Amino acid sequence: MNSKETGDRIKIAVQKSGRLTEHSMDLLVRCGLSYSRGKDRLICYGENMPIDVLLVRDDDIPDLVQEDVCDLGIVGLNIIEESALALRADGASRLFDQVATLDFGQCRLSFAVPRGTPYRDAGSLAGKRIATSYPRTVSDYLERNGVDANVVVFSGAVEIAPSLGRADLICDLVSSGETLKAHDLQEVATVLESRAALIRTPVELAPAKARWVERLLQRIEGVLQVKESKYIMLHAPRAALKEITALLPGSEAPTIMTLEGTDDKVAVHAVCRENVFWETLEQLKEVGASSMLVLPVEKMLA
Ligand code: PRP
Ligand code: ZN
Repeated sequence: MNSKETGDRIKIAVQKSGRLTEHSMDLLVRCGLSYSRGKDRLICYGENMPIDVLLVRDDDIPDLVQEDVCDLGIVGLNIIEESALALRADGASRLFDQVATLDFGQCRLSFAVPRGTPYRDAGSLAGKRIATSYPRTVSDYLERNGVDANVVVFSGAVEIAPSLGRADLICDLVSSGETLKAHDLQEVATVLESRAALIRTPVELAPAKARWVERLLQRIEGVLQVKESKYIMLHAPRAALKEITALLPGSEAPTIMTLEGTDDKVAVHAVCRENVFWETLEQLKEVGASSMLVLPVEKMLA
């Protein structure tokens, strides 16, 4: 590749270091990308595709994509929601597009109170000081629930606000719950369930770039599908075909092949969109299946 400096390469913004970094890079690698790291280590140059990855703070990703500095971004729904509310409040005419949700980065944005503080429902928030890095999302939640409270903005270390006397409770991301536990805080209500998602610039892409983005999206879809999918092969009595195909989890029309030298037995091959467990194999055996093989699927393209 010699067009590294030109504008016809796709730029993807990815979190520099945090819960999404490793999974994001792993996803791109599974899509076939190999890359080398720039000297500053903040840009990964795609070697076999016209794609470069910019490693940035996750909070900056929606703006970078909205402003078309990057064509794509991988970021949590928590940050997408907060940015979308800000952009709408600023009267942005067109927002970045959310084009896919991904299968990593699961966490939730929740209210948490110092252990022992009573909490019943949203009404319990009335008049309280709430520390958060998600002021728009929290204000939106309060408004939807008709509650008046004070939102105190913290850009990090939100969990220490109550013990500093700066807030009565917090609204922050919870994943394992360890951070809350360490600060003697108790989760009481969830505002938003989050996971990683892929966003795309609101600006129309040049045709060559658009084709690559389309390709990448298809590959991402393939990678997501493949993770759970299995390829199953078995022998079955022709008479039991209906029962057997009904047992195959999430499979579309299987391939049925005659077995040389027999009339009453066939070979069945199928892609199952869900994992195939021992229980399923045992049930298949009960209705007459034999010689069963379950294989992982490596790549898939519809
Ligand atoms: C979040 C949140 C907590 C921690 C919760 O921060 O602010 O500190 O994760 O995770 P746990 O329930 O597993 O302990 P994050 O790592 O997302 O960093 P950032 O918000 O500063 O980007
Ligand atoms: Zn962050």
